[in-house]
Amino acid sequence: MTTRTIDVLYSEEAIAERVAAIADRIAEDRPERLLVVAILKGSFMFAADLMRALHRVGLEPQVEFMMLSSYGEATVSSGTVRIVRDIDTDVKGRDVLIVDDILESGRTLAFARRLIAERGASRVKVAVLLEKPGKRKAEIQADHVGFVCPDEFVVGYGMDAAHAWRQLPFVGVIKDAGSGA
Ligand code: IMP
Ligand code: MG
Repeated sequence: MTTRTIDVLYSEEAIAERVAAIADRIAEDRPERLLVVAILKGSFMFAADLMRALHRVGLEPQVEFMMLSSYGEATVSSGTVRIVRDIDTDVKGRDVLIVDDILESGRTLAFARRLIAERGASRVKVAVLLEKPGKRKAEIQADHVGFVCPDEFVVGYGMDAAHAWRQLPFVGVIKDAGSGA
C-alpha cells in the first residue's frame, strides 16, 4: 500500500500576500475597462482571489473564462493549442489581464495573448501564480508572477494531478511514501 502526503510549498498566507502585491502592481498601471480572462481550469482559485484583491485596491474588473487544451510536447507547429470554450465578451478597446496557474512551456499563454491582441484589446497583460523557469518553448513573459517555482509537479489552489487536489487552499508537492519504507 502507498500513502500519499502533500508537502506545503506555498501556504495560504504566502499566497494571499503575493496576490495582494500583484493587485497593487496591476492598479499602478491604471487599467481601463479591465477584463480579467481566466484560463480554465487551473486558474479558477487564483482568479477568484485576484478579483477580490483588485476590488480591494479600488478597481472594478469584469471576468471571463476561456478553456484551452494543449496538444502536448510532440507537436511543434503553431496549432498546438485549441479553444475548448471561448469568452463571450468583445475585448476590443479594453485592457485585458490573462490569468493562469502556471507558466511552463508558455504555449498556452502565448496562444491566448496573441488571440486577445488580434481581437483588438488595447493592452494585454499576463498574470500567473507560478512560473517554472528554464522550461520555456514559446516566446512569452508574464507581467506578474506570484512565485518562481522549483521544477516539481505541484498541486492545489486550483491545480490538479489527474483531476484531484484542486481543492487544497495551498500549493503543495505530492510525496509518495511506500509502506515498507
Ligand atoms: P504551458 O505553459 O503551455 O506548458 O502550460 C502550463 C500548464 O500545464 C499549466 O497551466 C497547468 O495546467 C499545467 N501544468 C504545468 N505544470 C504543472 C504542475 O506542476 N502541476 C499541475 N499542472 C501543471
Ligand atoms: Mg492550465
